[in-house]
Amino acid sequence: MGKISKKTAQGVRPEPKVIPLKMQENDNLLILDQRLLPHKTVWVECKDEIDTARAIKDMLVRGAPAIGIAAAYGFYLGAKKIDKAGKLLNLAALQKIKKTLDNSRPTAVNLSWATECMLKVGEQWLRHISVAEHQKEKNTSLILELFNEAVEIHTEDAERCYDMSVVGAEYIKNTLKKKKYRILTHCNAGSLATGGIGTSLGVIRMLHLEGKVENVFADETRPYLQGSRLTAYELMKEKIPVTLITDSMAGFLMQKDMIDFVIVGADRITRRHDVANKIGTYSLSVLAKAHKIPFFVVAPLSTFDPRLVSGGEIPIEERSADEVLKVGEHLIAAKVPVLNYSFDITPRENITALFHEESVIR
Ligand code: MRU
Repeated sequence: MGKISKKTAQGVRPEPKVIPLKMQENDNLLILDQRLLPHKTVWVECKDEIDTARAIKDMLVRGAPAIGIAAAYGFYLGAKKIDKAGKLLNLAALQKIKKTLDNSRPTAVNLSWATECMLKVGEQWLRHISVAEHQKEKNTSLILELFNEAVEIHTEDAERCYDMSVVGAEYIKNTLKKKKYRILTHCNAGSLATGGIGTSLGVIRMLHLEGKVENVFADETRPYLQGSRLTAYELMKEKIPVTLITDSMAGFLMQKDMIDFVIVGADRITRRHDVANKIGTYSLSVLAKAHKIPFFVVAPLSTFDPRLVSGGEIPIEERSADEVLKVGEHLIAAKVPVLNYSFDITPRENITALFHEESVIR
């Protein structure tokens, strides 16, 4: 597909209404505790890479691009901490910071992609400075370069969100000729999961701006409830019509011809375009295929992992039993053994089209 006009929705460029994190001038990284949404808005401060890795692991911040952005800032704060202690930064120290952050969650490749970008900045700087110069200059310009890189990762993600949302909305309008769409989405791939307007929710927003959204059905997304707690909340804030459904209702809605297309985000995409996304995505793709309903995936190029060929190679995170046994603090089951895979793999055969910031892959 060739270049797509960005003049969609009468040239309107929407801004996110909720954001997952902010870096303040005094070097405070504030992360919105998404575990408490939609009822409480609490910002948690991260002082270094260790705080940031914990916030990612405990899912205060989640969503593939957002954890990449948080990790980039965490990397910068880790380097800054060493500098403040009066030590000269070296490659081993930067690699250690990267490792701490990379170990926080395994499936979304955006995390290691972002820390790799940060490490490269450090490597280059260290390669071009002599020991004598480094001792004289200290780490000042390196710290500044790391900060700029993290800000760039953040702001570029906002750009990418907008671009892929336009790509996706244009493709859908051109291929599914309907006045208005009834859309099914899973998990949360909106502003809270990115540095901009979101990936799949970004496409939905662009379509909504043109009056083309009849309704969005948001899956609850057991067990972490990103659909009910986050997606429903975001869409309501945007005044986009949304109806919450239980995950197991999706097939029935498709059977009753209530869904025009399914659209989801992604945590990692392999070379053959198999997609890792929130657990339940694969089931939806099978249902969509059985009902001949288009199934779309939206993700930035930073979610594509060129090192992996097929979906079976993607590391799948297993999370704690408590996420399944409890809702909030309430135990809702006997203390039975639990299997809690957080992601699954949708094979390319089940995907109608994949949208990224530059183009469409069919
Ligand atoms: O466990 P989470 O909430 O981090 O999982 C998030 C998802 O699966 C999203 O769909 C994906 O990261 C895309 S976010 C734009």
